[in-house]
Amino acid sequence: MSTRESLQEVLKDKIGDALFVVVSNREPYIHRWSEGKLVVDKPASGLVTAMDPMLRTSNGIWVAHGSGNADRRVVDKKSRVMVPPGEDLYTLKRVWLTKEEERGYYYGFSNSTLWPLCHVAFARPTFDTMEWETYKRVNQIFADAVLEEIGDRQAFIWIQDYHLALLPAMLKEKRPDLLVAQFWHIPWPNPEIFRICPWNKEILEGMLGNDLIGFHIKMHCENFINTVDQSMEVRVDRERSAIFHHGGVGTKVLDFPISVDKEMIGKDAEKDYSYNEVIQDAKRSLPAKCKYIAVGVDRVDYTKGIPERLRAVDRFLEKYPHMVRNFVYLQMGALSRIRIGLYKSLNDEINQLVDEINWKYSTDDWTPIVFLRRNLTYPEVLAFYKMANVCIVSSLHDGMNLVAKEFVASRSDEDGVLLLSKFTGAARELDEHSVIFNPYDIEGFADAIHEAVSMPKPKRRRRMRRLREIVEENNIYRWGENFVSELAKLA
Ligand code: F6P
Repeated sequence: MSTRESLQEVLKDKIGDALFVVVSNREPYIHRWSEGKLVVDKPASGLVTAMDPMLRTSNGIWVAHGSGNADRRVVDKKSRVMVPPGEDLYTLKRVWLTKEEERGYYYGFSNSTLWPLCHVAFARPTFDTMEWETYKRVNQIFADAVLEEIGDRQAFIWIQDYHLALLPAMLKEKRPDLLVAQFWHIPWPNPEIFRICPWNKEILEGMLGNDLIGFHIKMHCENFINTVDQSMEVRVDRERSAIFHHGGVGTKVLDFPISVDKEMIGKDAEKDYSYNEVIQDAKRSLPAKCKYIAVGVDRVDYTKGIPERLRAVDRFLEKYPHMVRNFVYLQMGALSRIRIGLYKSLNDEINQLVDEINWKYSTDDWTPIVFLRRNLTYPEVLAFYKMANVCIVSSLHDGMNLVAKEFVASRSDEDGVLLLSKFTGAARELDEHSVIFNPYDIEGFADAIHEAVSMPKPKRRRRMRRLREIVEENNIYRWGENFVSELAKLA
């Protein structure tokens, strides 16, 4: 099994004295003011869940957008601060953006163009020239920040996600000797979808500045290779999963299914969180005789299938009336990207559905759906996982979905059932031992909830044990080791 220590060894062996630099839009720790006090938040982000343990191990630098209203207060002259707060294990270098830049680059091109383009969730992407121009400018701001930070040192630059598609080529243009890689945390669509983007070639050229590109699953690698092959003058070596361009320079494209630190989550989940106010509140809202608790933990995003889940709960209660008053669905919804119209209307739709379903079924001492609209802390999320008989992950399309793996990692009692959408990357690894369903098929979804809550204990245990073995074997450290080892081969 890979561990923090074995990853440390791999990093020492493969990277040596070179600087280890991770670049992403989202920062792992956000400083903000709350009632006059400085507080630190950890954002609801799969990327942060995965990369924070990597950085803690590597003594590297993480370059990211400083988005908190107290972020400037805690940094040094070079915009750097040591994190995690109190542990000081690695450097976070913050990049500052104006509101205008954030609007065009983050809310605009990243999340209104690339996000819907890459996720097949039937949301139409927008194509706005000003936002595209801002996206280019902000990628250059990140490039300047990274180049300033590394000076003339050797470095291994590991870029995260779709906000920074142009950064690889910008870095390589100035420093062709750098080793540059990118992990794309979301799906890659088929070529027919991607080519509708007016700037598709510039995006692909930017990404081909990488020595290595990683996706969660093979299908996304194939989609990417086919997209490049159909729109650019390149030579594709499918055997080696490589694309050759610009006078023979190559980019390898491989799958690396991301994961979590199963051991750490397991240990943390064993602690007692019953004192926590949010947990106490939630428990108070459960009827005394409630037999079954299902939970969902999501950013409120239209790719997560939250309205579909609420409709399935409705159908489940209709179809299996003996579950009325015996079942509660607890939804944790962290508000996200709320300045984008689609996200606003999703929120309204969810509020309306919760209200309608609760009105339809609730009695004096029972409501079927409890919706907590906030970003819960890590201990709170663990406490909810532990209370649950079932965890529902119903994404319409998802690169991986780390909630599924976190839930499994937290269940050291070997109980609980994972109800998992077949359209998540996680379903490729966890399908045999979870209850798999299609979130678009509300009837089938309702039956899947029924199957999950009625599963007998020996079967639950057998399945959860097997799921835990899979997540233990393919943990976050193994993911990091595999990625770094592949990249080192290209040095
Ligand atoms: O996992 C995909 C991802 O887009 C990450 O890049 C991101 O951190 C996370 O979802 C949450 O989104 P955001 O950073 O926009 O809040």
